[in-house]
Amino acid sequence: MQQATARFSNIDGDLLSKVSNLGPSELLLLAGYCAGLAENNSIAATTSVATNLVTDNAIKVLVLYASQTGNAETIAKSIGDDLDSKGYFADVESTLDVKLSSIKNYSLILIIASTHGEGEPPDDAIDFHEAIFSKKAPALHGAKHAVLGLGDSTYEFFCQTAKEFDEVLIKLGSSPLVDRVDCDIDFEVDAKNWSLKVLEALETWQPAVVTADPNPVNVLQFPHTKDKPFSATLSGIQKITAPGSIKNTYHLEVDLSGSGISYQPGDSIGVWAENDQDLVEEVLSELDILGSTEVQFKGEKYSIEYLLLHKLEMTLLNKGLIKEIALSSNSQRLNQIADTEYSSYINNHQLLDILKLAKSPLSAQQLADVLKPLKPRLYSISSSLDENPDEVHITLNHVESENDDGIRYGQASHFLTHNINVGDKINLYVDQNNNFRLPSPEKPIIMVGPGTGIAPFRAFLQQRSLQEAKGQSWLFFGNPNFNSDFLYQTELQKYVKSGVLSQIDLAFSRDQKSKIYVQDRLLSKGREVWQWLEQGAYFYVCGDMSRMAKEVENTLLEIIKLHGKRDHEEAKDYLKQLKKQSRYQRDVY
Ligand SMILES: Cc1cc2nc3c(=O)[nH]c(=O)nc-3n(C[C@H](O)[C@H](O)[C@H](O)COP(=O)(O)O)c2cc1C
Repeated sequence: MQQATARFSNIDGDLLSKVSNLGPSELLLLAGYCAGLAENNSIAATTSVATNLVTDNAIKVLVLYASQTGNAETIAKSIGDDLDSKGYFADVESTLDVKLSSIKNYSLILIIASTHGEGEPPDDAIDFHEAIFSKKAPALHGAKHAVLGLGDSTYEFFCQTAKEFDEVLIKLGSSPLVDRVDCDIDFEVDAKNWSLKVLEALETWQPAVVTADPNPVNVLQFPHTKDKPFSATLSGIQKITAPGSIKNTYHLEVDLSGSGISYQPGDSIGVWAENDQDLVEEVLSELDILGSTEVQFKGEKYSIEYLLLHKLEMTLLNKGLIKEIALSSNSQRLNQIADTEYSSYINNHQLLDILKLAKSPLSAQQLADVLKPLKPRLYSISSSLDENPDEVHITLNHVESENDDGIRYGQASHFLTHNINVGDKINLYVDQNNNFRLPSPEKPIIMVGPGTGIAPFRAFLQQRSLQEAKGQSWLFFGNPNFNSDFLYQTELQKYVKSGVLSQIDLAFSRDQKSKIYVQDRLLSKGREVWQWLEQGAYFYVCGDMSRMAKEVENTLLEIIKLHGKRDHEEAKDYLKQLKKQSRYQRDVY
């Protein structure tokens, strides 16, 4: 310090001694401040000193996101901006693009990961996930990390992918900067708090590097929020499967006038639906509770009936709920269900069923405490806004299942198709899906959308028709029977006639002895599918995740192997490249 002060002969000695008593973070703050002053006064030399300081001291942060429908990506980008504005060097990358070996070059790794399937990583993270668990993963001694999980606690494997990333990073030698947070479906507040915690911890881990005029930390912003839904009006509803069908599929048209809402083909609509009045009454009577009984919820008083109708989850079960009710009612049977039968049990049972099994009834307050907050249900939008200004269309199945005690309905599908009429209100918002987008109009597209999986492709075709798109388009559609289940038959035939749809292949599974599905049609057209892919086609899949989407992916790999003359690993690599180029996109549920 003595040597350095000698060079400041024209600076007041008092000032220098005050400066030398400052702590590291204050010094950096001052350096940034001086750099700002210098910049204003066009003193280039001083500015460059400050810039070096920032470069030398900044912590390199990797913000990695594993996202299927864009939530984790949005959060990652927002945190990346916050870090940049605080003077850190943040690289925001998708797990699809990041090189595994490069992660060791960062002193801090932030991972924001959602979970999909049954506790599986999002599509774009499958390879990275596999690689980081392999011998190829680099050692990360001395590094720090923080993981934010996005999930849905009604799934058995809640935030599984985030948990696994957290574990493996620790195994590789990294230590947590802050504890992992597992966010439920209403993730915004928890995600924001986690990002603030990360920023706070960073400041004490190593002095924060402050630029001359740091921007305030961004607050995570989601334009069409769940919290501020629009009260839209149901303008039309039509059952589009014919009598005799084993499915009850509906087409809904909803008026968005005055909302200012806009959406793109590929987006989903989030619907806040009320619980069914009959179900609420059955639950109350099962517990012998009066609907008017007052209970506390989030610091406010409500009648239990109001809460059950509008605020609490009554149709989706989760393990924690079954366990809690088992504990409070001392039920062995419920414990057994949670431990060994959970996955199959939740398919056709709801809250009412576990209350029937509970040995001792819950009080109204216990019930309010034990249930999760109601969550919105997402539906892939089946219209193009350009073709239908101020409208959104939804294509959905009325979900219905049966058990020994009766019939159980899907929460929102029952509300939308049985509990409201044309003219009634629906609280909704747009859930953007930037990972399911049409390419430019000259590109060829292949769409695989059996059942209600047709929804986004109806929107795609409407859009392409308006665009007078030159690119070829090919639809694979399937359902049980031609006579009753050919959804949007007239429209699709019109598109075939006009050339908007270049090809259509249909798989009506039950119209012949042996079942035929879309993946069978794909395989039989394998050579042509391969040619389309080689000509740059974009391949889309929408619909059932557990069987259809998996089968379609396996078939696609078969086609690549067979017609592209590749072995299994090479075929997987080809598919990976398609994903990287956004030419393999899925909206599966
Ligand atoms: C088809 C599907 C399967 C899902 N599976 C799980 C799961 O097994 N565990 C979980 O915690 N969340 C699960 N979720 C919830 C998502 O992780 C959650 O919606 C998350 O916010 C999505 O983030 P993303 O948009 O970044 O992908 C699933 C969601 C969908 C649509």
